[in-house]
Amino acid sequence: MNTTSQGSDPWEVVFKQGLMSGEGGIRTHGGPKGHNGFRDRPIQPLWHLSEQRRNYILFCARSSTITPMQINEPVISSSDSVRATWAEVNLTRLSRNLQAIRAHVAPARVMIIVKANAYGHGLAEVAKTVGPQADYVGVAVLEEGIFLRELGVKAPIIVLGGIWGDQVPQYLKHDLTLTASSVERLEQIDGVAAKMGVKARVHLKIDTGMERIGVHYYSAHTLQEAALKLNNVEVEGIYSHFANADMSDLTHARLQLERFKEVLRFYEKNSLPMPIRHMANSAAILQLPESHLDMVRPGIMLYGVYPAAQVLRTVEIQPALAWKSRVVYFKVVRAGHPVSYGSTWQSDHPVRIVTVPVGYGDGYFRSLSNRAQVIIRNQKYPQVGRVCMDQMMVNIEADSGFNGDEVTLIGEAGEAAITAQDLADWAGTIPYEILTNINTRVPRVYFTEDKN
Ligand SMILES: Cc1ncc(COP(=O)(O)O)c(C=O)c1O
Repeated sequence: MNTTSQGSDPWEVVFKQGLMSGEGGIRTHGGPKGHNGFRDRPIQPLWHLSEQRRNYILFCARSSTITPMQINEPVISSSDSVRATWAEVNLTRLSRNLQAIRAHVAPARVMIIVKANAYGHGLAEVAKTVGPQADYVGVAVLEEGIFLRELGVKAPIIVLGGIWGDQVPQYLKHDLTLTASSVERLEQIDGVAAKMGVKARVHLKIDTGMERIGVHYYSAHTLQEAALKLNNVEVEGIYSHFANADMSDLTHARLQLERFKEVLRFYEKNSLPMPIRHMANSAAILQLPESHLDMVRPGIMLYGVYPAAQVLRTVEIQPALAWKSRVVYFKVVRAGHPVSYGSTWQSDHPVRIVTVPVGYGDGYFRSLSNRAQVIIRNQKYPQVGRVCMDQMMVNIEADSGFNGDEVTLIGEAGEAAITAQDLADWAGTIPYEILTNINTRVPRVYFTEDKN
């Protein structure tokens, strides 16, 4: 309901009655239709509102075996039904994206990359959904690998990051594949494996132009030769990582691939079995088919997001995550009255401003201030004034708004859509950072598109 159904122009009523002068006088609480086009409606629980659209909703619960030190999984409790800000994850889209990737790269195998809380989508549910369909699972840090093992993931899991200190026994205890980036580390792994009476599964990491971890391509033979002398290490794989596969100019990416292929000749020259070769991230999967080799490592595209605006869209994917909130407040702001900290925005005419309970404390970046848009009732509106820690304001001009109205921060509503790439463009960053920064205080709500 809104005031346009009253017959008179609500906008006029507001100003004639002088009702825009203070926030206390602006809201009505379930009384007659709002004099300013806004009144409180009871906020309904998420699952009630979503019932017609969803067949089931899974709430991701924290496993009792997981300590906060191990992983920051979103904590969902019954009280989250009153939380006005949440992220929806469409598990059906996740599975479909994986199928589309698999079809595109076949016969290459697929390692799903689920680091950083599965790019903000929630590691546990993502792993449970697509883990069984993956050939390999890739994480960045040891804790993520242990978390997945404790969750019951049986697929091979590799930790792609560097190893430090005395971590090696933990890897072996949890049957995790290690990334070996130096001869010293390889020998340490061999020694620990010998003591534990196990064989360590390792992938050699070759740096072909990223200058991150990995032995340089021009000295890779030292690592390859060292591995041959060790009895407690199985070199199951060998890999490298692209620095620039998301660019339109693929010259550097091709150079990296050539360097990697040169490193691989070691096995041919010495008539040795070839380890699993992998190099392609999402951008390379899309733009550089010759880099698919034996296995690919899709991260962001698994979640339905293209790595950058300019990459070729050779695989059709759909975003799995939508980020939503609700209008919690309304006020009419007079001309010349600035909004929010720092008074960075003001209107030269009276406007209707709604407050949305999401802020940089949820991962909605402050750099989005005065740049972003949101969708309310299928229409896009600009965010105005500085984004605060927990709240932000949106200018709905002369339109009507209700307490409880759904606000789409990322996602689709009617014909309108806002993507993670849009937010990235507005914030001057990349969609990866947008997704992985959606804070754990934002509950994740999972659903499938099953019709039964
Ligand atoms: C080693 C490695 N492989 C694969 C990926 C997945 O990359 P993307 O999300 O671009 O597909 C990453 C992510 O940064 C990575 O570090």
